[in-house]
Amino acid sequence: MTDRPLSRPVRKAVLPVAGLGTRLLPATKSIPKEMVTVVDRPAIQWVVDEAREAGIEHFVFVTGRGKQAIEDHFDRAYELEDTLKRRGKTALLERLLDDLLPPGQCSFVRQQEPLGLGHAVWCARDVIGDEPFALLLPDMLVQGTPGCLRQMMDIYAKTGGNLIAVDEVPREEVHKYGVVGIDEDQTVGRAMRITEMVEKPDPQEAPSTFIISGRYILQPEIFALIEKTEPGAGGEIQITDAMRALLRDQPFWAVPYEGITHDCGSPLGFLKTNLAFAMDDPELAPALREFFEGFGKSGS
Ligand code: UTP
Repeated sequence: MTDRPLSRPVRKAVLPVAGLGTRLLPATKSIPKEMVTVVDRPAIQWVVDEAREAGIEHFVFVTGRGKQAIEDHFDRAYELEDTLKRRGKTALLERLLDDLLPPGQCSFVRQQEPLGLGHAVWCARDVIGDEPFALLLPDMLVQGTPGCLRQMMDIYAKTGGNLIAVDEVPREEVHKYGVVGIDEDQTVGRAMRITEMVEKPDPQEAPSTFIISGRYILQPEIFALIEKTEPGAGGEIQITDAMRALLRDQPFWAVPYEGITHDCGSPLGFLKTNLAFAMDDPELAPALREFFEGFGKSGS
């Protein structure tokens, strides 16, 4: 398919934020689900910080209707900044400025209809161009030090090709996820060569218990394959279908990273994400622990 090296640097990241977020309705009726608060910041900020830590230089947000708040969050807010300055709230002001992305290093492309994750990624093709890129699902927040994408970049430096972060789940749960088959004899550090990808398999037939998580490094040849991908599960154009096609020509590696992924796109997942991240915060954790210890004792 290509005789170019598959180890060129990964400078750009795609963050698809055009989904409807139906699982979090009605909270997400007028607020993008990527802007829901996780401890003290919008979910998307945690993901952008993970990508920044991994050395990403350009951020491509695939947005849709009603997602304006995401663009505003990464933009200057002169009146607010001025007010904070006048009130002497310098630390807060610095925090706001730290969250911004450098001018010219973020792009917003529009997915006019939420036709699926694969389609959202395809919408970023012109901005990504002919280079490998990271894909981060912004409703999946990963706790890990270093961050999940940083760990993947370190492995990519050795393997090149395409990488997928994977989580191991009990076999009876694999039917809910995309599952990868692996060749345990072909490893590079923690990474294992992927032999197949199966969407929501029967537990007995699943090739492994490694499920596809929310972080990827992909080669640009994926775009042409997404274009040829027919709508799959739920009538949506699935990224996994295009990755399966790319697997015929290029190596894919499963990366069992060190850390925990939280799906903050459902009510329970959202609550768990908040609690898990708050328990990581040395200022909040003791008070939260105390709250839970007393929880229910007084009937409150
Ligand atoms: P999800 O399937 O988790 O998001 O996609 P969703 O469709 O918004 O959620 P529900 O199921 O209705 O609650 C993962 C990420 O991909 C984006 C979403 O915004 C989310 O961040 N996405 C999904 C798109 O950008 N476009 C799509 O067509 C689908």
